[in-house]
Amino acid sequence: MTFPDGFIWGAATSAHQTEGNNVGSDWWHLEHRPGSFLSEPSGDACDSYHRWRDDMRLAAGAGLRAYRFSVEWARIEPAPGAYSAAELAHYRRMIEFALELGLAPMVTLHHFTLPAWLRTWRTPEAVPAFARYCERVAAILDGVGHACLINEPNMVAIMPVIAERGLETLKDGLPVPDPAAVEALIAAHDAGRDVLRRLRPRIALGWSIASQTYHPDDTAADLAARYQAVAEDVFVDAARGDDWIGVQAYTRQKITAKDGRPVYAADPDAPRTLTGWEVYPAALGECVRRTWQRSRLPILVTENGIATGDDAQRVAYTAAALTGLAAAMADGADVRGYYHWSLLDNYEWGSYTPTFGLVAVDRTTFRRTPKPSLAWLGRVARDNRLPKD
Ligand code: BGC
Repeated sequence: MTFPDGFIWGAATSAHQTEGNNVGSDWWHLEHRPGSFLSEPSGDACDSYHRWRDDMRLAAGAGLRAYRFSVEWARIEPAPGAYSAAELAHYRRMIEFALELGLAPMVTLHHFTLPAWLRTWRTPEAVPAFARYCERVAAILDGVGHACLINEPNMVAIMPVIAERGLETLKDGLPVPDPAAVEALIAAHDAGRDVLRRLRPRIALGWSIASQTYHPDDTAADLAARYQAVAEDVFVDAARGDDWIGVQAYTRQKITAKDGRPVYAADPDAPRTLTGWEVYPAALGECVRRTWQRSRLPILVTENGIATGDDAQRVAYTAAALTGLAAAMADGADVRGYYHWSLLDNYEWGSYTPTFGLVAVDRTTFRRTPKPSLAWLGRVARDNRLPKD
């Protein structure tokens, strides 16, 4: 179970989930809206806005060689057209420190949050604004090998539907992405790619998809395939011409048909994680195979992990996921790296209860406590292979 030479081993985080007090973002506003459907606000998060050096030292010290993090548009452009040199310098320091530690930085330009002033991808302003923002970020990317333009555009395109209709809508069927948001996100991807290619031709560019492995019953095979075409394939196809594509896989979705629509058909007895998802590590290999077959692009696993309070379960899950990944690679999938989600226990978009971290974070002192899984993954990274047991 040895991985190819140069295989990238890293961990991932995002700005809003770790920095704290991201007050200029649309999510902060959503969190504080009266009657918000989110159970708790992000608050100080992990205070990584100040403690990012500690985070990176932990990753590098364990043996990881890469760190995926995002830069926050709402901080860099706090008002339309007003770019903050100080915030850009802040992220530049992060990049330089990562390089100093021997952690290859992967910079995500958009990870779920928009500046509150922009509000939505559905405004005609969004795409040109994103292109201008990419231009500013390009200026700080010296030494960066990989940039991720947009994280999970397929989830981002579903968010307006959930924000309007509430979480209840998930009970009636799989939410269909908002067509205007889909169009804008693909246009933003293309515009951002043009800007970065022009200004930073050496950076490998891509975007990361929320990859799904659907397990439909006999009644739902066609429905699941049709749904996946609009909720995922369209974004995989838009990556054509990119340098890589990001696979982010966690679980599987069992699907059945109800009134001619695909709906989730979870097995009530299946073991579940703290997000309520089925424990299904084979999802990673299945998603990688599917993405490879469709895109033929080099793949980076930009997220994979498990929300659990039992760290031994995290190790077991990750070992099983990596075993499936290695099998997909043995069968031909061109996979170049693996970034575990997440380095830290962080803000899981509405709640701190689901803990995905390799490192625990005290909610009031912000003290970091590495879990055994960090050392385990660091060893895998150093050996570039999975341990026999
Ligand atoms: C997102 C992360 C999130 C993780 C676990 C992905 O959808 O990119 O921000 O925390 O999955 O839910």
